[in-house]
Amino acid sequence: MQMTGRIPKDFIDNLVTRIDLIELINARVPLKKTGSNYTARCPFHNEKTPSFSVNPIKQFYYCFGCGASGDAIGFLTNYDRLSFPEAIEELATLAGVDVPYEEGTQASKPSEDFTELYELQQSVSKFYQQALIKHPQAQQAREFLNNRGLDQTTIEKFEIGYAPPEWQNLPSELNFNPDKLKQLGLLIEKEDGHQYHRFRNRIMYPIRDRRGRVVGFGGRVLDQSTPKYLNSPETPIFHKHNEIYGLHQTLQTNDRLQQLLVVEGYMDVISLSRHGISYSVATLGTASSREQYELLFRYCKHLVLCFDGDQAGQTAAWRAIKIILQTLRAERQIRIMQLPEEHDPDSLIQEQGHDDFSNSINNATVLSDFFFDYLAKQHDLSTIEGRSALVRTAKPLIAEIPDETYAQLMQARLAELAQISFSSNTPRPARTSNHQPRTQFDSRPSLVKTAFNLLLQNPDLIQVLNQQPTDWKMIKDPDIAVLLLLYETIDNNPESSFLSLMKQLEHHDEFTRMKSLISEILLAESEIKAELSDAIHGLNKETRQQRVHQLVTKASQQALNTQEKEELNQLLAHKQHNNAKIGKHK
Ligand code: UTP
Ligand code: MN
Repeated sequence: MQMTGRIPKDFIDNLVTRIDLIELINARVPLKKTGSNYTARCPFHNEKTPSFSVNPIKQFYYCFGCGASGDAIGFLTNYDRLSFPEAIEELATLAGVDVPYEEGTQASKPSEDFTELYELQQSVSKFYQQALIKHPQAQQAREFLNNRGLDQTTIEKFEIGYAPPEWQNLPSELNFNPDKLKQLGLLIEKEDGHQYHRFRNRIMYPIRDRRGRVVGFGGRVLDQSTPKYLNSPETPIFHKHNEIYGLHQTLQTNDRLQQLLVVEGYMDVISLSRHGISYSVATLGTASSREQYELLFRYCKHLVLCFDGDQAGQTAAWRAIKIILQTLRAERQIRIMQLPEEHDPDSLIQEQGHDDFSNSINNATVLSDFFFDYLAKQHDLSTIEGRSALVRTAKPLIAEIPDETYAQLMQARLAELAQISFSSNTPRPARTSNHQPRTQFDSRPSLVKTAFNLLLQNPDLIQVLNQQPTDWKMIKDPDIAVLLLLYETIDNNPESSFLSLMKQLEHHDEFTRMKSLISEILLAESEIKAELSDAIHGLNKETRQQRVHQLVTKASQQALNTQEKEELNQLLAHKQHNNAKIGKHK
């Protein structure tokens, strides 16, 4: 389906109500029922104790540690890293409905409608493919691919093309829009106004995003000159850190991926596919990013990272591992495959053939072994100095691992290697992230905190406050100020929900303080109203007591004026009235 045009808001609202958020999240992050909510360790920040909570009745999630919050759409956009329309598509698929796109309307964000750029990129790719077949100067390129052992099927599968040597005009009959070509980085304008093509006399590897759209190119020289590869620059549709070469083809070829082999070069992916290994992908020359691994884990829980056997390969592997540790969650598995020296996957599979190469994949080292082997090589473990350096390097890296069990085992292994006897409950090293997970349920929440949370999570209960005296508003206290702010926000906008309140208040100066007040409220729906009423009642009582104290103190120093005397009388009468009430109950 074409994803253009606006999606009606009604449809989105309706769709979200049809999805069970608990089910949606539980499929990705196993949830545990605690009281009336569901909790887990937060998938959006590293933490030891669970502060991520999902409310099944209100259908939102909130993390007490990092403040992440949202509904089903928010979860998919943040966890699965889908764009807004993609998240809607995903939910619609779950609910078994089609997304209605309003024809003829502008997409909701016109500036993000890149349809034309995608189409142009696709035409240019077709043009390069044709040129490889037909262009009078493409002979050398065809020979190159031949010599690399590629057959026609593989060339077509990866849509390999050829950029002709022309500096300036692409054939005018193609009528490509020069401004758009510039946006795609295909055409470059010099300061004197002259334009030329980025890719000339190169083998062209189109890079498709996971949905199959051509988003960029890698272009290889035909000889030994440098740079060996030119790549498309960052453009509105091409973000190197988010793209993976070969992912689209891999997903097309494999229904179920047992494992994904992550290699370094375009040619490695292509050559592996030629030899029957159709489940490899490549990062785009740049160092691999966390985004790329998150993307890959969405399709396959088991990654095998493949690195050259030389020093550079080792260094690259270590760099990758430092990043990938941060993405480790319970069900994810990583292994490292080190190639013999002087080999890359392309040359190795040409030499060994499919079967031996597959065996090597199966024998790849588990991440933890690689991690400690690498460190053991870097440090002299026979000395205290070497071992303490080892601990200094490894500890902060282990601290980044979100999977707690795995982290603990790594920690134990580190201790063993460094010959330290950690007590079994050594605290995890300090987090590098800057949020302080707050302990919940630690002390009995104060009245204001209780009132605040009940109101925030049940904004429709504002009537409970409106039915009671408003003495509490007078208390000079920063937490009361926040409660008052919340009250006023709901008062102005009675339809507010928890999530919309968070949105309305997030730019407010008090927001940080507000977040620090949020805590889990474990109450059955029926008790909420009474509890809120009691909290406000309690606050009012405190306010009056404070005022009495103030007036009495003043009276001991100077005479009260008539107004103050009257106030004190009333306050005391109120107190007696209450005491009398309590007395009656006895
Ligand atoms: P390689 O040099 O291993 O390239 O670089 P390759 O794909 O195996 O190509 P062949 O075998 O020489 O034909 C690995 C990757 O690093 C990026 C490319 O993405 C390449 O596939 N790279 C390399 C660049 O972006 N620019 C360069 O100049 C070199
Ligand atoms: Mn190579």
